[in-house]
Amino acid sequence: MITLEANSPYNYTVVRQFAIATVLWGIVGMAVGVLIAAQLIFPALNFDTPWLTYSHLRPLHTNAVIFAFGGCALMGTSLFVVQRTCQARLISDGLAQFVFWGWQLVIVLAAVTLPMGLTTAHEYAELEWPIDLLIAVVWVTYAYVFFGTITKRKSPHIYVANWFYGAFIITTAVLHIVVSLEVPLSAWKSYSVFPGAIGAMVQWWYGHNAVGFFLTAGFLGMMYYFVPKQSERPIYSYRLSVVHFWALIGIYMWAGSHHLHYSALPDWAQSVGMIFSLMLLAPSWAGMMNGILTLSGAWDKLRTDPILRFLIVALSFYGMSTFEGPMMSIKTVNALSHDTDWTVGHVHSGALGWVAMLTIGAMYALIPPLFGKIKMYSTKMIYWHFWLSTIGVVFYIVSMWIAGVTQGLMWRAVNPDGTLTYSFVESLKATYPYYGGRLIGGAMFLTGMLLMAWNVYKTVSSDNDKVVAPVPQAA
Ligand code: HEM
Ligand code: HEM
Repeated sequence: MITLEANSPYNYTVVRQFAIATVLWGIVGMAVGVLIAAQLIFPALNFDTPWLTYSHLRPLHTNAVIFAFGGCALMGTSLFVVQRTCQARLISDGLAQFVFWGWQLVIVLAAVTLPMGLTTAHEYAELEWPIDLLIAVVWVTYAYVFFGTITKRKSPHIYVANWFYGAFIITTAVLHIVVSLEVPLSAWKSYSVFPGAIGAMVQWWYGHNAVGFFLTAGFLGMMYYFVPKQSERPIYSYRLSVVHFWALIGIYMWAGSHHLHYSALPDWAQSVGMIFSLMLLAPSWAGMMNGILTLSGAWDKLRTDPILRFLIVALSFYGMSTFEGPMMSIKTVNALSHDTDWTVGHVHSGALGWVAMLTIGAMYALIPPLFGKIKMYSTKMIYWHFWLSTIGVVFYIVSMWIAGVTQGLMWRAVNPDGTLTYSFVESLKATYPYYGGRLIGGAMFLTGMLLMAWNVYKTVSSDNDKVVAPVPQAA
């Protein structure tokens, strides 16, 4: 449990802002996800309006959930964790405000330009060059605030969560700046400086490391703080966490070419991606076990603490998606899974199961003390949220697994005379029931988020007791 002292020397204003923004952007991003999931079954839901078409809303969904929901969660928690574990106030309150409002401006600009169809067409880096410049400025400021605070620390030690957050911040800056090297043609149109197969390699070096550092390393930072805190146990093995850190960041960088199997990329480069992906299984599972085993001797807490359930289920999904990923990177497996909904299932077992569940758990742990409350307004509602999201994510990914394998098998089936057994439309028809399953699962997950928003609103606005607790141990 997190308790905060009454007259805190730290800057929690920016953490509060990011926490509320996380919940709000989570709802927006997932609502768009549910809408596009529905459009894949009922195309008429684009209402013949250009900015409501699937192609315009899909990047809006991915940008909103990754960079708005995930980004606000990472920025907010990192600025909280760095202050608590370094026992130092942020190096600059003004710059912290600039980071918050600058990031919100980026999100709003994305929400306007993407539905308008203004895009670089680089997945996860769709925003056009003026917004890219703004992102670079905001991100470098964020890095200054984070690392500047570390330089002010009172303890000589830098807690492992900060290592993960630090790697996420530095790598995201490098990835963003390299993938955004583009030649502007007009105010809202640019072309990448990287041609052909080089462009594809840069794109997936970026795309995969966005997964590795934004959706993984950053959230591992969150995990290494919130799991021990919430379970009131020290991390299972500090030494393992350091090995986990160096192995993970050393290997991730080389795995991106698994997105380009059977493409124009040289064959050896594809194989390097496959081998490094297989190696990634080891540090990923080491991290998962380190988190889960932190609960050794305190498993009973899972019966009474719904927040801990979110955190532990998130770790289980982390383990599952980091087992599935290396398997999918094997060339022969990828020949079946690539371009099918299996990939989308894998994405969401990481994105919903790991990223969103962990964020939700961390927010439930953080919001009451941040707003001077003892606990969330309704614990029962957290239980409801937990079951809605757990069942929702299972519905989502199981539907996508079946849909993906069905598609892969139908596309490769050939008659004795060499012609294709099934037309593409037949495979599409076979997929529809599973798109229905995904829609139900997604809607359940979104309903859980709406419950969360209500619970947060009641917690923040209610008048229950203020917490006045002694200053806790730093980490
Ligand atoms: C209610 C929850 C959600 C629903 C219903 C949903 C739905 C969808 C749909 C329909 C797609 C397009 C799939 C396709 O093109 O075939 C998609 C793509 C994607 N979503 Fe979600 N989503 C949800 C939550 C999330 C969250 C929380 C994240 C990240 C933290 C996320 C990340 C992504 C990514 C990265 C893609 C692109 C996948 C790819 O290119 O293979 N989604 N989502
Ligand atoms: C050991 C860790 C992992 C490995 C080796 C791995 C490997 C893979 C592979 C082989 C693909 C399919 C590429 C293709 O056929 O095009 C893929 C797609 C993807 N994975 Fe993972 N994965 C891992 C963990 C994760 C996690 C934890 C997340 C999310 C939090 C994630 C998010 C994604 C996304 C977003 C894509 C789709 C990219 C796109 O096509 O747009 N992965 N991954």
